[in-house]
Amino acid sequence: MFKTRKALLALDQGTTSSRAIVFSTTGEIIAEAQREFEQIYPNPGWVEHDPEVLWATVLATAREALKKAEKKGWSVQAIGLTNQRETTLVWDRATGQAIHNAIVWQDRRTADVCAALRKAGRAETVVSRTGLVLDPYFSATKIAWILDHVDGARERAVKGELAFGTVDSWLIWRLTGGQVHATDATNASRTSLYNIAEGRWDEDLLDLFDVPAALLPDVRDCAGEFGTTAAELLGRSLPITGVAGDQQAAAIGQACFRPGEMKSTYGTGAFLLLNTGKDMVRSRTRLLATIAYRIAGETTYALEGSVLSAGSTVQWLRDGLGLLSQASEISALAAGADPESGVYLVPAFTGLGAPYWDADARGAIIGLTRGAGRAEIAQAAIDSTAHQTCDLLDAMAGDGVTTRTLRVDGGMARNDTVLQRLADLTDIEVVRPKNTETTAWGAAFLAGLGAGLFRKLEDGRAIWKADREFKPACEPAHRERMRAGWKDAVGRVRTG
Ligand code: G3P
Repeated sequence: MFKTRKALLALDQGTTSSRAIVFSTTGEIIAEAQREFEQIYPNPGWVEHDPEVLWATVLATAREALKKAEKKGWSVQAIGLTNQRETTLVWDRATGQAIHNAIVWQDRRTADVCAALRKAGRAETVVSRTGLVLDPYFSATKIAWILDHVDGARERAVKGELAFGTVDSWLIWRLTGGQVHATDATNASRTSLYNIAEGRWDEDLLDLFDVPAALLPDVRDCAGEFGTTAAELLGRSLPITGVAGDQQAAAIGQACFRPGEMKSTYGTGAFLLLNTGKDMVRSRTRLLATIAYRIAGETTYALEGSVLSAGSTVQWLRDGLGLLSQASEISALAAGADPESGVYLVPAFTGLGAPYWDADARGAIIGLTRGAGRAEIAQAAIDSTAHQTCDLLDAMAGDGVTTRTLRVDGGMARNDTVLQRLADLTDIEVVRPKNTETTAWGAAFLAGLGAGLFRKLEDGRAIWKADREFKPACEPAHRERMRAGWKDAVGRVRTG
């Protein structure tokens, strides 16, 4: 007989797939499961997910990973949940059914509403209270859109019959059999309705965005009680004791616990988070101030740069252009590119995020000559991720923050070519940790904290290990030419 060992289950509900990973308390992966799901594009610039598919894929992956871990003699003690942020759901409290598809963070359908609010001079109120710019990326205008486009929804919302949630809340509701309607402070901080300086839903913002308070979830610390799973779902009841938005979970997984520590995650988009400690730093360069985590009632803030398309650009090369049959082929294809081709790809498929915030911009490939081919386009796609990271680092420098190293993670961070190019164009050292599943690990770690398996946040530092460092190795003149070409290309797609 072998003894069962204690483990934690992370559920990572992302933009293109749901994943479940069982970790040991020292951060090793014991078992995992993943399901990709369909993206729904009802109109140009719109992106939706089927709420039942989100739920079904989470449940299926949780069951699969749990089963595999149990077979190996591990006993899961608690669940940590992490999720694509801002994506908006509204459901019926009585039936537990969503009243509309989830409107995904990338969706631009409320760009006009945001433009009108900006024109009316409301941007300053929003940024000073939420740390966010007025942009369709965030949940508030998406909630109002659902209430205004589903018959009777607004009246039912006012009566308290409906519930709003980001994906974490939706899953907590389903996992607890409708017992708990809650979110954590990091997810709340992405709605545009949460006053991050005061730590409360803000009535003025609810008025501004026309969102009834009766819809809102309870906001809790990232490590703590979020209810227990209904017994029939996973074979037994498990406590949910950790919750954070995926970028914040990655920062925790990367042990960015001290002010000045920074990570960049390359998933569907790319997100750079800098820990700013107890201070909510107001960006002068249109980065976001946001909540990094709230533990035991104490809020730690972050400065965030959000890039809307990174991995999704490679996906587009695969699915939209048919240039690749697998995303990992991109390096081999780009290897044949002329380094001075002058081809730039600006992946503004759903507009441009930080620091431009241009919801109406659309993508472009610029600088084509007869010498340009598939290799140059592949190289331009890789470079677009590096250039967008450079733009964020430049913006951070404008806010007085510079760094010599960048901790990276996410799917694209497995690709050495991408990381070398990132080091070359940013001119800083790029460090990949051994465990690139930092988002899921961050959620598992929070669950362990909430369940008392870890004592304090800093316990996570000892678990983080570097795998490989990528040092800048390109000629300064090449870098300068590339940066100038990129800025020119971005200038051509911007609308404002
Ligand atoms: O803000 C959106 C972000 O949370 C999505 O993350 O990993 O799906 O690109 P990802």
